[in-house]
Amino acid sequence: MHSAKDKRTRREATDSALGVKSFWVSDRQVLSSTRELEAAIADVIFSRKEPRVSIDELARAVHTSPARAARAIFQLKELGYPLHLSHESIRHYPFRWIDLQQLGANPATQRIGRRVEWRLHVCSTQDELKKLKDEAPDGTVLIAETQYGGRGRLKRNWFSGLGGVWMSVLLRPTWSESHQILPMAFAGAVARAIGDVVELSPMLKWPNDLMLRSRKVAGLLAESNYQGNNLDHVILGFGINANIEIARLPKELRRHSTSLSHELGQEVDRTILVRHIIEEVDRSYRDFESGHADEMLEEVRPLCSTLGKEVQVTTAEGIFKGEALDLGNDGQLKVRMSDGTIVSFFAADVKHLR
Ligand code: BTN
Repeated sequence: MHSAKDKRTRREATDSALGVKSFWVSDRQVLSSTRELEAAIADVIFSRKEPRVSIDELARAVHTSPARAARAIFQLKELGYPLHLSHESIRHYPFRWIDLQQLGANPATQRIGRRVEWRLHVCSTQDELKKLKDEAPDGTVLIAETQYGGRGRLKRNWFSGLGGVWMSVLLRPTWSESHQILPMAFAGAVARAIGDVVELSPMLKWPNDLMLRSRKVAGLLAESNYQGNNLDHVILGFGINANIEIARLPKELRRHSTSLSHELGQEVDRTILVRHIIEEVDRSYRDFESGHADEMLEEVRPLCSTLGKEVQVTTAEGIFKGEALDLGNDGQLKVRMSDGTIVSFFAADVKHLR
């Protein structure tokens, strides 16, 4: 029989030479997946003061072979990490991370961003935040520089390379009625925050995509968790293509996506952007909690470029075409069909036709 301690493997990511914190992981977890290996390697490289480390040393630190370490580094470079791989060593270049200290716990806000967590490379900020849900207060924000399993609406993958803003917020609304409108209202808040920081005015494509010149620049994902019939918490994820080169996006996304830096021709200060997002979202959340959902809708309507358009709506029940007329009280899209009937859609994918 092995003792619990025997079962653990000491991961010598700790090498004093590497100057990295020590940590323990159970055998079964030992960097089994390639993605976790990449995350561990990123942690080791960027937590060092020394910009250069030999591949052998790095491989030893995460208990893998130099060849696997080199492959992981290649993947990190694909995500935009500023790394240069030479024959036997890897060098990292300076990069402006989202600055947690500058961001701080935000005293200007009441509910959102009183606690902010930062991670380097995670599977999804949604899952990372969920791990904290039992001890984290309402409004806790978790930001990651990159995600390897970022997810979008309708079970789509979400590209999350370096330079974007990938963040999730934990919400425990006390006024849980109509909480379906939160993602849409928060998308409006993100649009305002972007407009505060740079000279751009994103429009909302129903339900919660932000668009510039008809290309997607940001999207929101809401995941609600219930205890029986009662809403326990919502984790709302924000994905904003801030400083993302279009050429770095997966091919199939390039035609329909854009980024703030692409539109502006220069990079955006992501820390300032995140601070504004937190402040605007806090304002929306307070409006919502004080029962002003209808006023929130009034703010969103003028931003919603879907209204008045001929749309194609895809749902599990089929594909429908009609004219998008208005938003309902719960944020649903009301569409007039060709036979004159008005149908409300709650969850669907919408294409603007004209
Ligand atoms: C969409 O438009 O489909 C929603 C995209 C939401 C992406 C964000 S990025 C941060 C958070 N973590 C995830 O895995 N997804 C959301």
